[in-house]
Amino acid sequence: MQTDGLSGKHILLIISGGIAAYKSLDLIRRLKERGAGVRCVLTAGGAQFVTPLSVAALSEEAVFQDLFSLKDESEMGHIRLSREADVLVVAPASADLMAKMAAGLADDLASTILLATDKPVLFAPAMNTRMWDHPATRRNFQTLLDDGLTAIGPGQGDLACGEVGAGRMSEPLEIVAAIEALIGDAAPELPLQGRKAIVTSGPTHEAIDPVRYLANRSSGKQGHAIAGALARLGAEVVLVAGPNNLADPGGVTVRAIESAAQMLAACEAALPADIVVCAAAVADWRVAGEAQQKMKKDGSGQPPALALVENPDILKTISHLNGGRPELVIGFAAETEKVVQHAQSKLTRKGCDWIVANDVGAGTGVMGGDDNTVHLITAQGVEDWPTMAKDAVAVTLAERIADHFGSE
Ligand code: C5P
Repeated sequence: MQTDGLSGKHILLIISGGIAAYKSLDLIRRLKERGAGVRCVLTAGGAQFVTPLSVAALSEEAVFQDLFSLKDESEMGHIRLSREADVLVVAPASADLMAKMAAGLADDLASTILLATDKPVLFAPAMNTRMWDHPATRRNFQTLLDDGLTAIGPGQGDLACGEVGAGRMSEPLEIVAAIEALIGDAAPELPLQGRKAIVTSGPTHEAIDPVRYLANRSSGKQGHAIAGALARLGAEVVLVAGPNNLADPGGVTVRAIESAAQMLAACEAALPADIVVCAAAVADWRVAGEAQQKMKKDGSGQPPALALVENPDILKTISHLNGGRPELVIGFAAETEKVVQHAQSKLTRKGCDWIVANDVGAGTGVMGGDDNTVHLITAQGVEDWPTMAKDAVAVTLAERIADHFGSE
């Protein structure tokens, strides 16, 4: 979510040498969007990856590079540079610059400013995974934390050098959030602050043998969007997600599961909660006696008989909890005809509080699509919502949930 918690703040961004420096250009934009002033220092290594011209154009400020530049020193001495900011952000923080910072060296403009500053420092390490794992880097990292600096990342994943592991610089929006946490003005109270929500999303996979499974076409788009929308209204959200290709929504704790049984166990582990939204397309059945080895054709020409057993109904189980039942339990009903009528009987059958009925009849919110046509069924009656994008359905539902808790 874009907030103005950084409006009027001054950020000194130090860009050191590393391929991740390209992400720092985006970081400058994201900070400026939030009303922050950004002044940049580019190390000699940083200038090998991004040009002073791009940095100056995006920051709309002069870029400082040289400790011994008469021009830079007369315009803005390095001491003033370090003191006029509310926070110093080092992104990327290379292994070399981290080593200098830990040792207290001051042999270039960036390291001198970092030694001279009296302001909080946030650093975002970025390097090859071996360099990150090296005992010297780990020592330096720990020294910087002990000195009171704040670190963000590095993350895991594919690295530009072709290796995989820890060393990726955190994404610009993650760095923005860390800066906000460090110096941002407190955000206004959000309507679902202090509430906990569990959201199920996506399909489940039910194993037949180690390589085969039963599944369905659910994309998880609606459930993921709901989890994100609830988090943006301040709720603490656990998203229990079946296999999907979606990015994790921001500010949400994701528990990745495969089967319905695992989904139920993850939901139970995440309880207690105030709100549960069951948006997952849970498989109704699983295979009885999953084969431990890959099943083979036996030459008889006869296919194997797959016996199915019913899966636990997560929505029903949570709706019927005796102690600690969440205050608001919401289910989904995908129907092709008599949408409202079927959904009303599902509300009673499952014992939940609301049903979001989606019309998956021809020409409407077909599974996997981006739009949804829904009706909200509660004990008070039926609301017909216009066809909307799944993101908009999520925002509308999250606001309805916030109204429910606000009107208590
Ligand atoms: O019974 P049906 O599958 O139509 O109900 C759909 C609703 O029930 C959805 O909210 C879905 O997430 C939930 N459900 C569940 N566990 C199941 C089956 C469905 O939570 N085993």
